[in-house]
Amino acid sequence: MKFSQIILVTGGAGFIGNHVVRELVNKYPHYKVLNFDALTYAGNLRNLLDLNENENYQFIKGDICDASLLKDIFDQYQVNKVLHLAAESHVDRSITDPLSFVYTNVMGTVNLLNAAKESWYGNYEDKLFYHISTDEVFGSLGEEGFFTEQTSYDPRSPYSASKASSDHFVRAYGNTYGLPFVISNCSNNYGPYQFPEKLIPLVIHNIRMGKPIPVYGKGDNVRDWLYVVDHARAIDTVLHKGKVGETYSIGGHNEKTNLDVIHTLCDKLDEKLGRAQGESRKLITFVKDRAGHDKRYAIDASKIGSELNWEPSLQFEEGISKTIDWYLDNAGWLESVTSGEYLNYYKKQYQY
Ligand code: NAD
Ligand code: TYD
Repeated sequence: MKFSQIILVTGGAGFIGNHVVRELVNKYPHYKVLNFDALTYAGNLRNLLDLNENENYQFIKGDICDASLLKDIFDQYQVNKVLHLAAESHVDRSITDPLSFVYTNVMGTVNLLNAAKESWYGNYEDKLFYHISTDEVFGSLGEEGFFTEQTSYDPRSPYSASKASSDHFVRAYGNTYGLPFVISNCSNNYGPYQFPEKLIPLVIHNIRMGKPIPVYGKGDNVRDWLYVVDHARAIDTVLHKGKVGETYSIGGHNEKTNLDVIHTLCDKLDEKLGRAQGESRKLITFVKDRAGHDKRYAIDASKIGSELNWEPSLQFEEGISKTIDWYLDNAGWLESVTSGEYLNYYKKQYQY
């Protein structure tokens, strides 16, 4: 079959990546979707078992820092669109090991930009390098205000500094070599297949297991939560309707303190697991705050709303209920990713 687009998705075996790959493979049978992923601790082919038989889907194991492999892939498949999601993505890990974030998020992104530039230079028609980034590049908000596309960069963790750097490189390649690019900066995602080092799946897992729920500081930091499938839809929208050279902020209009999120998870899980109301809240344990902990993130997503007609379809109440149901129905998935190396990570991070 002749495909009309050859899309290289990096990090497609990760949390957001698998939803993006699924959205594209199912919605566009005439596109070939290449899922390029190194399968680090965060990448898992179990996330994509339902797509294995699809003719328009292919997995390629590889590291975005491997320049010669990238060159071969661009040559062999005639890639014309890149959706770049591969990254080290967890702030706590960036605090203990910043260099691995520089390696993947900065060096890896520049390698990928080079591969795209070398392959496309001189003929940029129908080409696009789409970088999926985070709102954390903008730093931390006080009580008021929102991040927009105009907000100045002010990254404050090694993770956000590495993502900010990769955003800068993408724009620099656009300015210097004319590489057609687009960037979106999204708020915190939640939903199925998220690795349980991040707040929501970690809390669900610990409640199931009757383990303490670690709350950093006072639990009053605020995040703006977006259901991951809505993010995948937003990425599809930007890919098809976004203007080259533009940036889009994506968010869920769902600002919550961490304690609010944790209380919701405790109460809903008590109900769904048939436990007495209040039982899971007893697991809440206040622990030492994260170093340099950003206070509040919140996105003004009006540009993507008005220009590209994208809106989140789910509000937090509904999304969190679906998410809990998914983790309860997929206990095997949770158990498989929380054995082995996870136990070492957990012990190092939480000391119990
Ligand atoms: P994730 O950690 O779940 O997945 C990352 C994926 O990248 C994994 O499959 C991993 O194997 C792969 N990977 C890591 N290093 C690689 C390398 N060197 N070469 C090839 N593949 C490699 O991350 P996620 O939460 O799905 O985030 C995806 C992207 O979206 C990241 O760029 C992240 O910065 C961004 N983002 C995430 C969020 C969020 O809330 N999770 C919000 C906004 C933006
Ligand atoms: P996280 O899911 O790591 O996302 P990010 O730091 O990228 O926003 O954390 C979300 C919030 O939850 C953040 O304010 C830190 C807090 N948190 C805890 O209180 N305890 C935990 O064990 C974790 C992992 C996070």
